[in-house]
Amino acid sequence: MVKKISFYLKFLFQGTNKYNIHSPMVHEFIENILDNSIKYYSFIGIEHVRSLLLKQNEAIELKDLGAGSKSIKSSTSTINILTKKVQSRPEKAQILFRVVSFFQKKNILEIGTSLGLTTAYLSNANKDGKVTTIEGDPKVSSLAQKNFKTLKLKNIELINQPFDQIIPQLLKNKFDLIFFDGNHSKEATLRYFYWLAEQANEDSIFIFDDIYWSSDMKQAWDEICNFDKVMLSLDIFSLGIVFFKKNREKEHIKLVHRSNLY
Ligand SMILES: C[S@@+](CC[C@H](N)C(=O)[O-])C[C@H]1O[C@@H](n2cnc3c(N)ncnc32)[C@H](O)[C@@H]1O
Repeated sequence: MVKKISFYLKFLFQGTNKYNIHSPMVHEFIENILDNSIKYYSFIGIEHVRSLLLKQNEAIELKDLGAGSKSIKSSTSTINILTKKVQSRPEKAQILFRVVSFFQKKNILEIGTSLGLTTAYLSNANKDGKVTTIEGDPKVSSLAQKNFKTLKLKNIELINQPFDQIIPQLLKNKFDLIFFDGNHSKEATLRYFYWLAEQANEDSIFIFDDIYWSSDMKQAWDEICNFDKVMLSLDIFSLGIVFFKKNREKEHIKLVHRSNLY
């Protein structure tokens, strides 16, 4: 926590606000995605499921998925703790919803499903699209599947396998939006990034959670920003967003905005 506060103080010092940004593309992103607070009908159903999960104190055994995989340190937890501590907050999931909806992304990959609430946002954002989501824990994965059924979501493929086994088999899919939210180690984040960057095109968007989770994750984020195929990296502290658009100067923006705290 102390480390995160020190990261944020530095971020505030180095960052810029929306009034000092010249890029039309970033302005468009801020206006339509970050500053947009329209609530859609589908949000109500997902947040209702979240509120039900928050009331469930049933214990669950968690599978050991290796270093960097856990925000919860113990091997057992309860559904309400997973909901509170592991799920992205509604505000963050709603940013992802708006990215998919605004850019009309159709082929979406989420690395790390957990109970599937963010997956549900991604799914609702474009009913003509498809969301592939990966969760290595069998129990957590079956709880997510149950939530998709409750919410009547039909455009989700949930894969219950370890990331390292399945991602190489998915590379032919040409995902146009990828949410990296599974393994919080530098090595794994970079490994998945380099695998998936191979299949990226100039319309791809990659979004990284927890870029300030640790010094290691910050180093992974810095390396991603410097990768030559990345044209624009937008750092909103709570998420790192990467665009591969060609025909523009490489740019890195640290944006001071209320979404920093989501
Ligand atoms: C932070 S949670 C995902 C949260 C979700 N994306 C959201 O926004 O609410 C990460 C999930 O990835 C799973 N996971 C971690 N390491 C994994 C691995 N190596 N293979 C497969 N699943 C893994 C964990 O079990 C956990 O449920």
